[in-house]
Amino acid sequence: MFFDHLELAPADPILGLTDAYKADTNPKKVNLGVGVYQNENGVTPVLKCVKAAEQRLVDEEQTKSYLPITGLPEFGRLTREMIFGKDAALVDNGCAVTFHCPGGTGALRIAGDFLVQQNIAKRVWISNPTWGNHFQIMGAAGLETAKYTYYNAQTKSLDFDAMLKDLGQAAEGDVVIIHACCHNPTGLDLSHEQWDKLAQFLADNKLLPLLDFAYQGFGRGLEEDAYGVRKLAETGIEFLVASSYSKNFGMYNERVGALTVVCTSADIAKNVQSQIKVAVRCAISNPPAHGEKIVVTVLSDPELRAQWEQELAEMRDRMRRMRELLAQKLAAAGAGDFNFIVEQNGMFSFLGITKEQVQALRDKYGIYLVATGRACVAGINDNNIDYLADALTAVVKG
Ligand code: LMR
Repeated sequence: MFFDHLELAPADPILGLTDAYKADTNPKKVNLGVGVYQNENGVTPVLKCVKAAEQRLVDEEQTKSYLPITGLPEFGRLTREMIFGKDAALVDNGCAVTFHCPGGTGALRIAGDFLVQQNIAKRVWISNPTWGNHFQIMGAAGLETAKYTYYNAQTKSLDFDAMLKDLGQAAEGDVVIIHACCHNPTGLDLSHEQWDKLAQFLADNKLLPLLDFAYQGFGRGLEEDAYGVRKLAETGIEFLVASSYSKNFGMYNERVGALTVVCTSADIAKNVQSQIKVAVRCAISNPPAHGEKIVVTVLSDPELRAQWEQELAEMRDRMRRMRELLAQKLAAAGAGDFNFIVEQNGMFSFLGITKEQVQALRDKYGIYLVATGRACVAGINDNNIDYLADALTAVVKG
């Protein structure tokens, strides 16, 4: 018997919530669990620009033969334009290499595999709190993990001094995962001044940044959200970026992400690229084409690109409107000061409520949040916001 000693693994703390939500018979149930955009009607739509690109592919695609291990060179170039800016040197100067990986998760895992296989790093520092999967992915790749403080639960704000103090314990050569924007789960991002300091700190301490850039365009805008990544690029240090088209293209199940590695010369980048090819070949051989070709089609066609930016802005603006409305409604209901929700960015709000309060929301009201008190604000709409505000108020007031 090979398998009889196995025990049932616990459900995934984020993806498992979707199953529980689906099974709930409460007609008023609200899904604020997994980070998936929902529109005003609670639907996760296929973006119009994506549909148009898919139609074009159906009509024009000539082959389903393998893609290069890296993905299409044009995909890499367009991704670097998004990350570093259209006119940035790193787009074309050969110092940065990009791989299409299956989603942001795939990009992080390939990054971890590469760092371990090439004996580049042994330990990775991860923010506390963070997206639950970071620890698992890095552990599975074979890296030791350590936590750095990010959040002050008393003030419900980012604790930058504590962050730098903890990272001061890191050894030269350690990796540091930093959320480039829309921190998951807190929604609290570094200010420009803090990014400037952090970039210098990482350079001075010879740490290797791995930026998790899963939410570009969901915070303040495509360009605004890239401030931190571009600041690191300015310092001239080596770093990695795991980016994703799951959220900003609404292509969750197409698994389109990218790993970009910034090197100090084009020659070094060639060697890095060759070694990451080995890591990719072992893990997935080569990437799937459909979602990647959609990204290339949309980003390289001026009309489709404009339509995408418009659709992205609509998602971003709706989430921001829901933040403002929820804070207002909670204040009106006497729930206490929830104004911090408005200061947070992106898809998530860290409500600062206890596990028991999260459970009560689920049991009594059919409202699903991650156990840490993370709510996906994209699940809020004009039809459920009063119900949510009343339930939250009742639970907070006990
Ligand atoms: C989330 O944090 O909810 C998303 O990134 C989805 C996931 O894979 O966990």
